[in-house]
Amino acid sequence: MLVLGFESSCDETGVALYDTQHGLLAHALHSQVDMHAEYGGVVPELASRDHIRRALPLTQHVLTQANKTLANIDGIAYTQGPGLAGALLVGSSIAQSLAFTLQVPSIGVHHLEGHLLAPLLEDNPPVFPFVALLVSGGHSQLMRVDGIGQYQLLGDTLDDAAGEAFDKTAKLLGLGYPGGPALAKLAAQGKARFKLPRPMLNSGDLNFSFSGLKTAVLTLVNQHQPLTAEMQADIACEFQESVTEILTTKCMAALRDTGLDNLIVSGGVGANLRLRERLNAATKRKLCKVSYPRLEFCTDNGAMIAFAGAMRLKALQDTHEASDYGIQIKARWDLAELNAP
Ligand code: KG4
Ligand code: ZN
Repeated sequence: MLVLGFESSCDETGVALYDTQHGLLAHALHSQVDMHAEYGGVVPELASRDHIRRALPLTQHVLTQANKTLANIDGIAYTQGPGLAGALLVGSSIAQSLAFTLQVPSIGVHHLEGHLLAPLLEDNPPVFPFVALLVSGGHSQLMRVDGIGQYQLLGDTLDDAAGEAFDKTAKLLGLGYPGGPALAKLAAQGKARFKLPRPMLNSGDLNFSFSGLKTAVLTLVNQHQPLTAEMQADIACEFQESVTEILTTKCMAALRDTGLDNLIVSGGVGANLRLRERLNAATKRKLCKVSYPRLEFCTDNGAMIAFAGAMRLKALQDTHEASDYGIQIKARWDLAELNAP
């Protein structure tokens, strides 16, 4: 089954072709980062308009790359939520119209399910059950995953998400948008000579809290004005040490509590190399396995949506349930509402 997938929940237009027999055939992405950079963050209306401009040329691009035509497509998947309403509407309108025209089944995919399943696109994919750490701009969650649609929340952030903490701290340090990758780059040049707290490290549960950390960075920044480039790098380094230590400790606690020996990490912060270094070492010590998506599939992309959609469409095929091609996005959507296909 050949599935065309669209991602348009925020500031990246992603399109991909996934074949249930032959795997990922092609994927393409257009990032709007440069367009939003001058505003210091994502401008929703500009994001929607850009998705309109990019979606069809990217579709043509992946079809050409895979040497396929629209007539070869057996199903269409698109991000139905959560995300920016306007941006989601663009992707779902295009996907549903195309599916209706081609008379193929369509499916709305939960963006976080896309992230969660992204490590399964790699060689030697992890097998269920596993513990998943989902760390993106909007989420920091630990989950027990027993299969597609079988997600049990083990821990969550009480305030900011990990990616949000990276972005806000980057802003405090005067780095541009998007902050996470810029902060990580700077941290690699710094020394952890400042001491920042490790909020909730020993809370005895699997929850996180990152907003206090950001306040602690603000205090440090205010105490050290004017901030030299060296201090900036040292604060970035210690901030990254704090977040990655907390995330690693909680992942190991989740493995211990569930009795599982398999961890997957996904979402934008999963691209952080220091986090990967720490998780690799910690899981190795406990004889556990850890899997990540390739770096480009940690952040938003069409491949993860095509894949998650393909898994669900394949299951639907057996039920012969018809698609209604309605355009209904879910700007807010709890992952716990999903069921197994
Ligand atoms: O998954 P994603 O692309 O979008 C959401 O669904 O939110 O994640 C984006 C988040 C941003 O907060 C970004 O700053 C962060 O992931 N991020 C990173 C790195 N690359 C992206 N944070 C830390 N280190 C990185 N290398
Ligand atoms: Zn995302």
